[in-house]
Amino acid sequence: MYPIHLGIIGAGTVGGGLLQALARNGSLMASRLGVEFIVTRVAVRNSNKARLGSVPVDRITTDWREVVNDPDVQVVVELIGGTTTAREIVLTALRLGKPVITANKALLSAHGPELFAAAAKHGTNLYYEASVAGGIPIIKILRESFAGNRILSIHGIVNGTCNYILTRMKLEGAVFADVLADAQRMGYAEAEPSLDIDGHDAAHKTGILASLAHGRWVRPEQIHTEGIRHLSKLDIEFASQLGYTIKLLGVVKLLNSTKKARPAELKGRVQSARPQVAVQVSVYPALVPNSHVLASVNFAFNAISVRGDVVGETLFYGRGAGQDPTASSVLSDLADAALDLKHGSTQRVPPFVPHATQCSVVPLAEVISRYYLRLSVADRPGVLAKIASVLGKARIGISSVIQPEGHEGEVVPLILMIHDATNAAMQTALARIARLSVVKAPPVMIRVEAFS
Ligand code: HSE
Repeated sequence: MYPIHLGIIGAGTVGGGLLQALARNGSLMASRLGVEFIVTRVAVRNSNKARLGSVPVDRITTDWREVVNDPDVQVVVELIGGTTTAREIVLTALRLGKPVITANKALLSAHGPELFAAAAKHGTNLYYEASVAGGIPIIKILRESFAGNRILSIHGIVNGTCNYILTRMKLEGAVFADVLADAQRMGYAEAEPSLDIDGHDAAHKTGILASLAHGRWVRPEQIHTEGIRHLSKLDIEFASQLGYTIKLLGVVKLLNSTKKARPAELKGRVQSARPQVAVQVSVYPALVPNSHVLASVNFAFNAISVRGDVVGETLFYGRGAGQDPTASSVLSDLADAALDLKHGSTQRVPPFVPHATQCSVVPLAEVISRYYLRLSVADRPGVLAKIASVLGKARIGISSVIQPEGHEGEVVPLILMIHDATNAAMQTALARIARLSVVKAPPVMIRVEAFS
């Protein structure tokens, strides 16, 4: 049995889950892998935590440096979250040549290239399966299983908290704030709830997926990000009547791919041209047709649909948040790290390999979508004609119009489904519509996702 000494930093939801999972399945992993995991040091903020289980007191510290610098510790597991101390921990460990496992999507999003460069420079590895979609092994799928595919699109429900809120709003007519409090109690939500509900957590994860798929690092500021704070019960109900479910989606779409010839190729000597790609990378709430499988992914479950040019459409589903699913992905990284150490192959599958010469993220303004539009309008003749005229002048087509019955009074809802238009054209038209005297509240626009 090959011993692997672990240093674990953080014993919160995920760290506590990892300690429990190791206690439950450590011997199973030992029999499968021929390695024995030994929890050698654990750093915590508060050493009284019940989550520490059977870890002996003399192995517990409140100073992460004691873990990273302990000569016995071979693998460092960073589970504290945040981007400042976590970055220092990961860099310090990598510089010592120690492999690091992290579940920290915010850290990777902000500092990925620096961390991967440090891993390569010091001949070690950074493992991050738990950073995206909890228990779903999507990193391994994109990095290893789909190594032979050009990734055409990724559509992901990657934030469990938002999916939980939207599901309960749809199924129970629940109120946003109450449901958010429940998600926090159940350990899905981030410590800072705006990371979830304003779409930033989903953007961190979507950026990681886009970077893996297209081989250049996508920075968070390149990702158009909208959350779910502005969604109302009314929109969820109207969408449902029209045959759609509103989901917060991370969307990565290959819009264009060209091969760039390098000078040597022009002389006919090198055949392998690397691609230049243009991609859409965005996070927004969208109407998903009920016929699409993502529409039925409920509560804190995540699901990611990946379309590759060889494999076609695939779907990966599972728990995207919470103690055990995230611990499961950390265990998978532990297995990889242990086998890599055992066989001395620390860069067997490098954590991230740039492979496109350039990956330009196309501004959402230039991307074509369909739209759901809800207007609050004066209930009198001629209103529809005024709105249609603005859209007509912008050469934006209407595919259907509904004025739902049962809304009486001076101001009534008017729902328009809009044909393909660029986001820029739609925003300009919306600004004009908002200025019409017959429009009594800011228009609500939600994209309708096309999956083909
Ligand atoms: N807050 C995250 C979510 C946790 O709700 O999905 C998992 O990253």
